Amino acid sequence: MLAHPIPDRWLPLLVNQQTHQSAPADLGEVTAMIDLRIESFLASRGFPTNLHEAIQYAVLGGGKRLRPALAWYCSIACGGTGKDSVCAGVAVEFIHAFSLVHDDLPALDNDDLRRGRPTLHKHTNEPMAILAGDAMLSLAYEAVQDHRDNTISHRLSAELASGTRAMIIGQVYDTLGGLPENTSPEDQLKLIHRNKTGALLTTSCRMGAICGRATDHQLDLITQYAQAIGLQFQIVDDLLDIEGSSEQVGKATGKDAAAGKVTYPGVVGIDRSREIVAELAEQAAQALEAIKACTSGSIEPLGLLGELLSARKQ
Ligand code: IPE
Ligand code: IPE
Ligand code: MG
Ligand code: MG
Ligand code: MG
Repeated sequence: MLAHPIPDRWLPLLVNQQTHQSAPADLGEVTAMIDLRIESFLASRGFPTNLHEAIQYAVLGGGKRLRPALAWYCSIACGGTGKDSVCAGVAVEFIHAFSLVHDDLPALDNDDLRRGRPTLHKHTNEPMAILAGDAMLSLAYEAVQDHRDNTISHRLSAELASGTRAMIIGQVYDTLGGLPENTSPEDQLKLIHRNKTGALLTTSCRMGAICGRATDHQLDLITQYAQAIGLQFQIVDDLLDIEGSSEQVGKATGKDAAAGKVTYPGVVGIDRSREIVAELAEQAAQALEAIKACTSGSIEPLGLLGELLSARKQ
């Protein structure tokens, strides 16, 4: 029932979209609903037109909405409605967009292309990109206030804060160093990747589960699922930087090695990186099986999302 054609924005992700890959049935509707909520939320903030347009460009100009989709399906996996996670999805997408705008700045990765278009600082200018990023960070916290249950809203803020803190720590490790001494290269990699990318994906999943009123045990298992796909996601990103074309991924490729970044393919090689991706996909699938044993909800959409992520080409 859940096997379904893949929404347009996810199509370029796939190697062989025509044959075996499918998406959760409502993925297109979920991502469209998130876009509408982001748009209306933004419109109600009273920003000056130039700032409004810059934020709109950054947050609504493409992107897979993977994090809101994870929140939605984690809610469902824990017996929630999915829809109960929308404010969490909006919030985490603002943090994600802020992280990308700042990641692309000349002071960090100095990238000109994002989601197949000029990066925000190229489209506008650097001061606007810095300030739009700052604004999106604060918008995320306003978005979680929208949850009608104060206890849940409070927990969502705490999750958002810890995921954002970890993302920034990861960006510092990635860009400026400061990793703990006496750690092996592989442990250093894990620390960078788990923080800069995995943490926000974990936050997305945990926020969705909290909105779905997960039990502590369900939340632990969702966290295990999320940590596996979170690390896997950045390893695939590292592989795409080497193996993908800029046209395909919508951003510059071949930059990590040139910039001296610590990446999985750089440290353990391409073949071992692929093996680790497969091992992590297996760990994620096992966590989902464990959730299945303790929920009235469905884990099937998360399983399909996990398969899409292993195969993604964007
Ligand atoms: C890109 O994330 C940045 C990383 C953390 C590797 P996504 O691949 O989810 O970016 P969009 O939102 O789809 O553009
Ligand atoms: C970015 O990692 C992670 C964050 C934005 C926090 P990358 O620098 O590898 O992401 P891309 O390749 O620019 O999307
Ligand atoms: Mg970076
Ligand atoms: Mg980058
Ligand atoms: Mg990258």
